[in-house]
Amino acid sequence: MGQLEHLLQNNRAWAQEVSVRDPGFFKRLASQKAPEYFWIGCSDSRVPANIITDLPPDELFVHRNVANMVQLADMNGLSAMQFAVDVLKVKHIIICGHYGCGGVKAVLLGERLGLVDNWLAQMHVIQDKYRAELESCHDERTRHDMLCELNVIEQVANTCRSTVVQSAWRHGQALAVHGWIYGLTDGRIRDLDVSQHGQEHLTDGDAQGKPKLSPTCAAFLTASEKDIVTRTTIRTSSPDKVWGQDYGT
Ligand code: CO
Repeated sequence: MGQLEHLLQNNRAWAQEVSVRDPGFFKRLASQKAPEYFWIGCSDSRVPANIITDLPPDELFVHRNVANMVQLADMNGLSAMQFAVDVLKVKHIIICGHYGCGGVKAVLLGERLGLVDNWLAQMHVIQDKYRAELESCHDERTRHDMLCELNVIEQVANTCRSTVVQSAWRHGQALAVHGWIYGLTDGRIRDLDVSQHGQEHLTDGDAQGKPKLSPTCAAFLTASEKDIVTRTTIRTSSPDKVWGQDYGT
């Protein structure tokens, strides 16, 4: 018996159980119904797209990678997107991040994990872009949550900039791009309210340099504006002190 025999046994039991409960299930799946949704999510095993949306396998076309990123030089991700948009004609692209993402945490803590650091390099750019906002967070957990959200928002923007989505919109194809985030601790998906439905909506966010923040982020930042000012002051004065200690004696 192979080491993975238990998985094959699980599969046989599952297929049997489904066939008994719904005799037409596999025949329907095999008829290749085109899904309406293209899901871009994290590879994290705790965020299984079909399970958390409670959708059957034929209703979700899925691409997953570390930290749910949309990189415009990634042939794998772009090919999946192009197939979803041009061939399957999905109506919605959903970028779904999750709180507690290990990839996001690695960037925040400056961890060195190997090859994956190259994949996550783009997130360092996001971290730099929102440095003031992130540094306004007093605790590591909130900062982690915020970068998880900001990453999703930036990946929505990247998706909208892709030739795949731009071309679809130019040709009048009905296609919306959404940013969601999933909570590992409560199983709930939150809409970050950054949905884009066409080219005209993208230019607004770009003009300001930063996409619209989610309600969660925006609310937090309003509450902590005073703290941003305080921390900026501390940061400005701090290097002098260190400089004096290091070189003054
Ligand atoms: Co993750």
